[in-house]
Amino acid sequence: MSPAETAAEAFATEHGRAPEVAWSAPGRVNLIGEHTDYNDGFVLPIALPHRIAVAASPRTDGVLSVATLGDDGVLHRAEPAPLDALAPGSQTGWAAYPSGVAWALRGQGVEVTGADLVIAGDVPAGAGLSSSHALECAVALTLLDLAGRPADGPDAPATADIARWVQISENDFVGAPTGLLDQTASLSCTESHALFFDVRSGELEQIPFDTASVGLELLVIDTRAKHSHSESGYGERRRGCEHAADLLGVKALRDVSLAELDGALEVLPEELRPLVRHVVTENERVVTTVAALDAGELASIGPLLTSSHVSMRDDYRISCLELDVAVDAALEAGALGARMTGGGFGGSAIALVRAQDREAIGQAVLSSYAEQGLTEPRLFTAIPAAGAGRDR
Ligand code: GLA
Repeated sequence: MSPAETAAEAFATEHGRAPEVAWSAPGRVNLIGEHTDYNDGFVLPIALPHRIAVAASPRTDGVLSVATLGDDGVLHRAEPAPLDALAPGSQTGWAAYPSGVAWALRGQGVEVTGADLVIAGDVPAGAGLSSSHALECAVALTLLDLAGRPADGPDAPATADIARWVQISENDFVGAPTGLLDQTASLSCTESHALFFDVRSGELEQIPFDTASVGLELLVIDTRAKHSHSESGYGERRRGCEHAADLLGVKALRDVSLAELDGALEVLPEELRPLVRHVVTENERVVTTVAALDAGELASIGPLLTSSHVSMRDDYRISCLELDVAVDAALEAGALGARMTGGGFGGSAIALVRAQDREAIGQAVLSSYAEQGLTEPRLFTAIPAAGAGRDR
């Protein structure tokens, strides 16, 4: 059963009737362009086939009731809350994500109605594959539909606005200072393509990324690690970048070109230099990757992926043992390139591999983990899938 069917079935069991609408949104892996989004730079994600679905019907009493189907098959219910009572801090845990979206949409003038929501999905949680953004995007699209402004209708808000509203929910309600990468990937990716997103201009370009047609696979290694400082570490890096931009007198680090990098580093305090070096070189790597993909040279992006990892490990310092072991083992076993993906401090790595090497590389990663006494990682092949959409 698809997540949408599962959500609809759980909704019917819970509420004794079929849901009126259902929307779903995918998780993502970012091919390259990490920690560039909040620096007004470039990113290149693909959507995963894994999705979070929301089945819903409106309520007339202005109350938001949310339940989510756990991996254990048990429905977890949040305390139903009047929409008027939603405010940052009013909901905690997983319920903060759907509630925050309702709160953010209302703040933007969307006439959110009371609703029963039932959530189900198969995006691995805590794996750095953006399950929370998939959830938030699916909730946003559902609530917009119930408010009479469905994303596929004539009065739809612009997708960029929906992404921004989800970001407001994440930043101001959930309290995570994240950028626009994940929402945009979840809403706007398409099958067989990577999405080249210029965060400053908002421009989106679908770049063909069909690994199978050239005998390659994109292996995802979910390290199952999540280090406790992931949130503080993210915020610190972001503040460091903003401080560096201020000192350099630019709006964002996006404004520093590769040619200007050395001069910029000279005037910055020592501790900010590696951050700036990562962001400036990473933006350049994204552009080079897009050019290679446009030229049909998919296999040639491997070294760019690996350089990106080295930059995050040594300059941005957001890797960890589990990610480094995955990347090193994959490269030693013949991957064309490998890197951590997402926010860092755990989560997932990706490796670009020849299809015929996939098995051996997967085995090499598993053995390396076993040798180091690490929890066994979860491996799967990522095929670029469709972005968010209506299921019902
Ligand atoms: C997390 C954030 C994104 C982005 C990445 C790093 O996934 O949610 O906005 O900053 O980290 O590229």
